[in-house]
Amino acid sequence: MFYGIDGNELVAWSLPRALLRRVSAVASRGVKSMIRFRKVACVDDVPEGRGVALEIEGKRIALFNIEGQFFAVEATCSQHGAPLNKGVIYEGTLCCPWHGVAFDVARGVCMAFPTERSAARYDVKVEEGDILLAL
Ligand code: FES
Repeated sequence: MFYGIDGNELVAWSLPRALLRRVSAVASRGVKSMIRFRKVACVDDVPEGRGVALEIEGKRIALFNIEGQFFAVEATCSQHGAPLNKGVIYEGTLCCPWHGVAFDVARGVCMAFPTERSAARYDVKVEEGDILLAL
């Protein structure tokens, strides 16, 4: 079911399943083709259990290596601007180095008081020892 505005009215309609699948497939391809991965570091540049700060296209990004998996979130804490790359990681949770607000490092989601704004996260992939981010 889809909802939209027609004049001042909220309207609902549905599409036949086959058409809906086709629209979803085209939309999905469109989004994937718009995502641009860019090499930002080598695997050896990010020690296990640590974070490094990157500045790419004016964005400050914290890149983490957690047991060989790489995660990237914006590098500035939403509370008072601490460098999240210097935070402590424990079981997938990133704790801000200044006041300890916790973020889910894989999703960038803020998990606790006092800040409510999550950190932007970036898709990461590794190819032949290179770390690429979706920007
Ligand atoms: S600056 Fe990050 S919790 Fe305060």
